Amino acid sequence: MKIKLMIAAAVMALAVSAGAAAWYAHMHPNLDAPAPVPMDILDKQGTVIGHYLAPSAEEIAALANAESVMLGRRLLSDTARLLPDNVGNGLNCNSCHMAQGRVALRNHYINTGSTYPRYMPRPGKEIDLPERINGCFVRSMNGAKLPVESQEMQAMLAYMRWLGTGVPQGAKVSGKTEGPIDTSLQPDMARGEVIYAAQCASCHGDNGEGMKDQFNEYIFPPLWGDASFNIGAGMARLYKAAGFVKHNMPLGVKREPPYGQGVMSDQDAVDVAEYFIKKPRPDFAGKANDWPRDKKPKDARY
Ligand code: HEC
Ligand code: HEC
Repeated sequence: MKIKLMIAAAVMALAVSAGAAAWYAHMHPNLDAPAPVPMDILDKQGTVIGHYLAPSAEEIAALANAESVMLGRRLLSDTARLLPDNVGNGLNCNSCHMAQGRVALRNHYINTGSTYPRYMPRPGKEIDLPERINGCFVRSMNGAKLPVESQEMQAMLAYMRWLGTGVPQGAKVSGKTEGPIDTSLQPDMARGEVIYAAQCASCHGDNGEGMKDQFNEYIFPPLWGDASFNIGAGMARLYKAAGFVKHNMPLGVKREPPYGQGVMSDQDAVDVAEYFIKKPRPDFAGKANDWPRDKKPKDARY
């Protein structure tokens, strides 16, 4: 009798704990990002010629040039601290090219190694990859060019080429670099100010100044002011900024069901982008040389 009771009690305890585990799993879903999704590799005609899966950093160790690729990866994440002479603000490359440029809609670098040299309307000529990287140094980072032969520039190139392993020269992966946004929408700055206060200021600050930790390093990057990107940066253009914000911000909020709310509409993103890009920020000395022959994009700032 005693044994039967003990067995019954044990069974009940098991049932209760299984129920509790199920309840716990329900209330605390796994918040890790899902594994990367394979992307199509397309040739110049748009024909699928293969598939691409973003590699994990663990694979770097086995490369012949592992040290250089690893340095490149570190420089992209920790740019302001590691390259103080070349960075004139509080940003890292990773602030805009998120997850070291490996994810669609977050300004990824997967196609970068295979699509330069290429003609670029802004300078009105063909440029190579070091020139393109230096474009972000002098505009997005409001800083100074990195010499092409420097160990650091070579490391960034090595990282970007490694990322594009398996993507032949001239081909591209299907994942877009920038988020689609309706460029026919007109911005409403007053509405943008309200959205900023409600959804952005908690991290980026009431005055767009970002937020630093106790060691004087940025946790959340600045959106305007002296420590932000200058007026010549791609992010200073309305629809580039809105596309980034719509698909990536506010950080930590999931867009997809079952938990996501789809927080930003295209109009919200355009309005809030108008609000922060038009705030005071550094000027860009070379702006007079931009778009020397092609038509300026409609959201060009000068
Ligand atoms: C403030 C945001 C921002 C920061 C910071 C930034 N970039 Fe960019 N970068 C962009 C945007 C936006 C584009 C696309 C620009 C366009 O289409 O005009 C871009 C484009 C590029 C491209 C061209 C990619 C391609 O495949 O055509 C490279 C390479 C690049 N950035 C490298 C860097 C590096 C290296 C750093 C750090 C030294 C950096 N960027 C910092 C916003 C940024
Ligand atoms: C939970 C904190 C958080 C919130 C809220 C948030 N951001 Fe961000 N934002 C970040 C972080 C962190 C980065 C840098 C990304 C990285 O390093 O991976 C970033 C990067 C950016 C960048 C590019 C880098 C720069 O400084 O220019 C822009 C633009 C931006 N956020 C705009 C917004 C806007 C607009 C909102 C509101 C709709 C918003 N963010 C809400 C944390 C946040």
